Amino acid sequence: ERGEKRKRDGDLDQQQVEEKDEAEKKVCKLAKLKGVVAARRGEREEMQDAHVLLPNLSECMKTLPAQSRLSYFAVFDGHGGARASQFAAENLHHTVISKFPKDVENLDKLVKKCLLDSFRQTDEDFLKKASSKPAWKDGSTATCLLVVDNVLYVANLGDSRAVLCRIEQTDSGDENCVTLALSKEHNPTIYEERMRIQRAGGSVDGRVLGVLEVSRSIGDGQYKRCGVISTPDLRRCQLTPKDFVILACDGLFKVFSAEESIKYVNKILQDSAVDGKAGQTLEEAGRYEEACQQLASEAVRRGCADNVTVILISIEF
Ligand SMILES: *[C@@H]1O[C@H](CO)[C@@H](O)[C@H](O)[C@H]1NC(C)=O
Repeated sequence: ERGEKRKRDGDLDQQQVEEKDEAEKKVCKLAKLKGVVAARRGEREEMQDAHVLLPNLSECMKTLPAQSRLSYFAVFDGHGGARASQFAAENLHHTVISKFPKDVENLDKLVKKCLLDSFRQTDEDFLKKASSKPAWKDGSTATCLLVVDNVLYVANLGDSRAVLCRIEQTDSGDENCVTLALSKEHNPTIYEERMRIQRAGGSVDGRVLGVLEVSRSIGDGQYKRCGVISTPDLRRCQLTPKDFVILACDGLFKVFSAEESIKYVNKILQDSAVDGKAGQTLEEAGRYEEACQQLASEAVRRGCADNVTVILISIEF
C-alpha cells in the first residue's frame, strides 16, 4: 500500500512539473509589462504635461485583437496651454484602437501605418477644435509606446523621449547595461527640420519664428503653415528579458543624459535588490516605483524648472 501511495505521489510530482513547465513556457512567450509614473511640478504656473498608462489596451477594445497583448504608454508635454496635451492624452489611443490592423499579415507595416495615421488624425481633430474663435494656440509633444506581443513600437513628435535599457552579459560574465535611444528629438536646429521649415517659408533662429522650441507637434496651428508637422518618427524593437524603458518629457532630459538616467534607475533597482537580501525586501513593483520617484525628484533637485513627468516601464519575462 505504501508503495502504491509513493507511486501516486510520484505521479503527482510529475504532473506538477509538467504544469510548471507549461506555465513557464507561457511566461517566456509574453513579457509582463508594468508602468509606474512620477510627476513633479516645475516653476512654471501650470501643469501642462499629461500621461497615459494602459498596460492592457485590449480592455478598451470592443473586439479583441488577434494579438495576445497590446500595451500603450504615452507622455505629452504641452506648451502655450494644456489643451493640446490633454486632447492627445484623451484621444490618441482611441484612434490607435480604431485604426489597429485586423489582419495579422504584414503586421509590422500595418502597425506603423496605424501609428502614423493616428498621429495625423489626432492633430487634425485637435486643430479643428482649436480653430474656434479666438483660436487656441496650444501645442504638445507626443511620445507613445505601443507594445504588440513582444515587439515595442515607439512613435514620437517633439522633444519628449523614450530610452531603453538592455542588460547584456559581457564575456567575463558581468552584466552590462546598454542604453538604446527609441526616439528622435525634433528641434528646429536639426538640419532636416530646419530645411523643411525654411522651405515652407518659416524662419529659424534656434526656435521656429523665434518662438516654438519643437519642429513637430500636435496642435500649434499657426506654425503648421510654416513647416511644423505632425509626422512621428517611428522605431521598432524586440523586447528581451530585463529590459526597461524610461519615457519622459524634456524636463528630465535637460538635466539627465539618456545614459545617465538609465544608469541612475539601474543602480536603484540593483541596490534595492541587494537590500532585499538583507531582509528589507522591496518587491519588484516597489523597486520600480521607488526608482521612478527618485529619478523625478533628482531631476527637480538638479534644477529643472519645467514640470517633469517620468514613466518607467518594467519588462519581465
Ligand atoms: C486584457 O483585457 C482583455 C479584455 O478585457 C482580457 O480578455 C485579457 O485577458 C486581458 N489580458 C491580461 C493580460 O490581463
